[in-house]
Amino acid sequence: MKIACIGGGPAGLNFAINMKLKDPHHEIDVFERNAHGVTFGWGVVFSDQTVENLARTDPETAAIIAAEFAHWDDIDVHIHGATITSGGHGFIGIGRKRLLEILEDRARALGVAIHFEAECGPDDPRWADYDLVVAADGANSRVREAYADHFGVDVDVRANKFVWLGTSKTFDAFTFAFEQTEHGWVWAHAYRFAPDCSTFIVECSEETWRGLGFDRMDQAEAIATCEKLFAKYLDGHPLQSNASHLVGSAAWLNFRRIKCERWHHGKFILLGDAAHTAHFSIGSGTKLALEDAIKLAEVLNRTSSSLSRSDGEGDRSAQLNGGGVTAGNASHPSTIESPFDGPPPHELRSRGGVEPLDLEAAMFEYVATRNLEVLKLQNSARNSTEWFETLERYLHFEPLQFAYSLLTRSQRISHENLRLRDRDWLEGVERWFWEKAGEPGKSAAPMFAPFQLREMRLENRITVSPMAMYSAEDGMPNDFHLVHYGQRSLGGAGLVFTEMTCVSPEGRISPGCTGLWNEEQAAAWKRIVDFVHANSKAKICLQLGHSGGKGSTRVGWEGNDVPLDEGNWPVMAASAVPWSPVNQVPRAMTRPDMDAVREQFVASVQFGIEAGFDMVELHAAHGYLLSGFLTPLINQRTDEYGGSLENRLRFPLEVFAAMRAAWPKELPMSVRISANDWAGDDGITPQDAVAIGEAFAQLGADLIDVSAGQTSTDAQPVYGRMFQTPFSDKVRNEGRLATMAVGNIYEPDHANSILAAGRADLVALARPHLIDPMWTLRAAAALDYRDIHVPPQYLNGQAQLARNLQREAEMAAANMRA
Ligand SMILES: Cc1cc2nc3c(=O)[nH]c(=O)nc-3n(C[C@H](O)[C@H](O)[C@H](O)COP(=O)(O)OP(=O)(O)OC[C@H]3O[C@@H](n4cnc5c(N)ncnc54)[C@H](O)[C@@H]3O)c2cc1C
Ligand SMILES: Cc1cc2nc3c(=O)[nH]c(=O)nc-3n(C[C@H](O)[C@H](O)[C@H](O)COP(=O)(O)O)c2cc1C
Repeated sequence: MKIACIGGGPAGLNFAINMKLKDPHHEIDVFERNAHGVTFGWGVVFSDQTVENLARTDPETAAIIAAEFAHWDDIDVHIHGATITSGGHGFIGIGRKRLLEILEDRARALGVAIHFEAECGPDDPRWADYDLVVAADGANSRVREAYADHFGVDVDVRANKFVWLGTSKTFDAFTFAFEQTEHGWVWAHAYRFAPDCSTFIVECSEETWRGLGFDRMDQAEAIATCEKLFAKYLDGHPLQSNASHLVGSAAWLNFRRIKCERWHHGKFILLGDAAHTAHFSIGSGTKLALEDAIKLAEVLNRTSSSLSRSDGEGDRSAQLNGGGVTAGNASHPSTIESPFDGPPPHELRSRGGVEPLDLEAAMFEYVATRNLEVLKLQNSARNSTEWFETLERYLHFEPLQFAYSLLTRSQRISHENLRLRDRDWLEGVERWFWEKAGEPGKSAAPMFAPFQLREMRLENRITVSPMAMYSAEDGMPNDFHLVHYGQRSLGGAGLVFTEMTCVSPEGRISPGCTGLWNEEQAAAWKRIVDFVHANSKAKICLQLGHSGGKGSTRVGWEGNDVPLDEGNWPVMAASAVPWSPVNQVPRAMTRPDMDAVREQFVASVQFGIEAGFDMVELHAAHGYLLSGFLTPLINQRTDEYGGSLENRLRFPLEVFAAMRAAWPKELPMSVRISANDWAGDDGITPQDAVAIGEAFAQLGADLIDVSAGQTSTDAQPVYGRMFQTPFSDKVRNEGRLATMAVGNIYEPDHANSILAAGRADLVALARPHLIDPMWTLRAAAALDYRDIHVPPQYLNGQAQLARNLQREAEMAAANMRA
């Protein structure tokens, strides 16, 4: 093949090398706009894995690079005058300039022609001579911009300002230095990449940047200001820029997260930063670029018969129909005319080869495989980017927790990862956590630390999340409920929530919901509560709710939110907005309706006292009655209960205040909220959630149970591990409130990471507890935590499980060593 490559960065050069290694007959021309030896940036960091990936296809280059790496283990976090050092992080770094020199030498030796000072545009007539044009022209790719519609480009310009500088000061550790100024915080990410040189990236919010006058300074002034700000870390070494061509404040950038739906168009194929970017704070841009190049060379050198058609995720036909390799696809008009009128290069015959290449299949495999990697990294990178953008949230943390939060910010590094990296440091964090929990001197997993809410002391931080069981008749809990809640209380969780227990027959979701509107129900609940108290250390919290417009539906497993076939009862809600086209249109509540509902909640609280519950939760989430008041997606009232958030809060707060007045002062109450409607700015946003949490807290809520969604059938939730935890983090640390996180948290490691990082005070698990009532005891066995209360009847089982898990862990470690 004859291939042009626009851009002589890591992606373009590594692609050229890998093509030549696969088949020296390929003709590869690399066109680089810069002069030889001129490049932006300083050092880049890699992981061992990236070097291994390089070594698989090009051991010679990998060996040269590996020999030149600067290597370091420690991360130093400087904050509030303290330095927190943790070890075992294992970074390697190299100068960008040196990396490019190595790649250029190798490419030239393999016969690649590199043309410097060769600025190329997408419509360059010389492309007609090439079979393919690889656009490795970086984050500001002209090719990508020219066909932006076709590539389905999505650019997210991030909030903070940063500048990429260098210094002769050599940092022994990867250094994060946070400095307070009168205009806000400024921080540096610094690491050594050569014996005499370090990268020094300075970052701050735009507000601070303007406040410090960086927007009005030329480069020399800006550098002098940074030198002053970070003088104590630089030991007199100067800072330098190698972007001297950028005038004034232009050297400061806002990071642009780029992703593309399609990576190829006609002869053009996007590679590296041209196709995607990942925030510099997770240091993976060069890795992605190098690995894209390896994969692209691999698929282009495979014949049609050997290409995998099912590699990666996604529907191939959808991808190809959505733009594919066909030039000028009508559904994705190009912003400029494609220079390749006529048939696209569907089939390329390798020069000297016999079998044709199926370009469509090759592109499918390339994009599907790489996109998966990119999405994973971009997810982590987004978490990391947001951490720095919301830094203010964590500044009240003590330095140790601040450092822990920083290290785990991307959610790629967890509690147990940190233990593997630096056991002593992590045990120090655990000791600190237990001390804060009132047990100084103890060091164990955070999930087992006690937690106090008013006079209720929880044995540990794990809770069984509320889950409707749809197994009651006329609201009466029965033997199923006794066994269900009894068993979960025996399983070791510190707190067990009841399912949404309804305050009236009409307030039920389904005919199977439990209720608490009469003495018989109170007595039936008392039987359960008494069992829990007599046989376990768990506390039990009554969740009270009213279904509103989502009521009168089938039991969960016969169709969530689907109306009954017969026997429907009339429903009411904040507004006459049906949940879906098949649900009833609810009656918009009148003031007398509100009075009646408020009194029903109060009566249920009083029955809850009779039953002996330890805690009460008001369910104001998931689109049910009170949630329907909070969310503008359901609440369309024009009176004082609709419109502004203050108005929408009015009735839920009134209900809460009445409940609080009826519930004993010494016992805690919580409120469950949907912290995000997943409907953009039209619905509740996480920012609103902070205000909602604060409003309930002012009336005596001790804990905000931060759930999300289920408030609209049009919601667009973004699922993933611990996907709602960021909302708990926000409510907790911006509102300074105690919170409980929930949502796809299923491993002890998740719980410990969330708690130690201060993202929540309690961790709720729902589905994991459905299938494993003993989740907490099992975690205690796995983590060899012996102080948990085990029901005496089960002691032998716990001991055996702990032994077996210990043995399994030892065998796994021995296998790893072997
Ligand atoms: C502040 C900062 C810190 C970073 N730190 C790290 C890190 O620690 N680790 C890491 O892995 N990554 C890091 N990155 C990201 C990394 O620099 C990129 O992801 C990586 O360089 C991508 O390689 P690439 O070859 O795709 O693009 P680039 O390296 O941008 O290369 C593109 C090349 O194309 C050339 N070019 C562009 N347009 C044209 C044109 N029209 N004609 C001819 N030539 C053209 C450019 O001159 C350039 O040489 C960082 C990025 C930034 C901004
Ligand atoms: C079967 C089932 C029933 C549920 N019922 C309730 C409920 O009654 N009240 C409530 O607030 N949440 C309810 N939820 C939501 C859970 O409490 C929890 O927020 C959600 O399942 C996410 O947690 P998970 O990923 O650990 O399952 C229910 C979830 C399930 C799976």
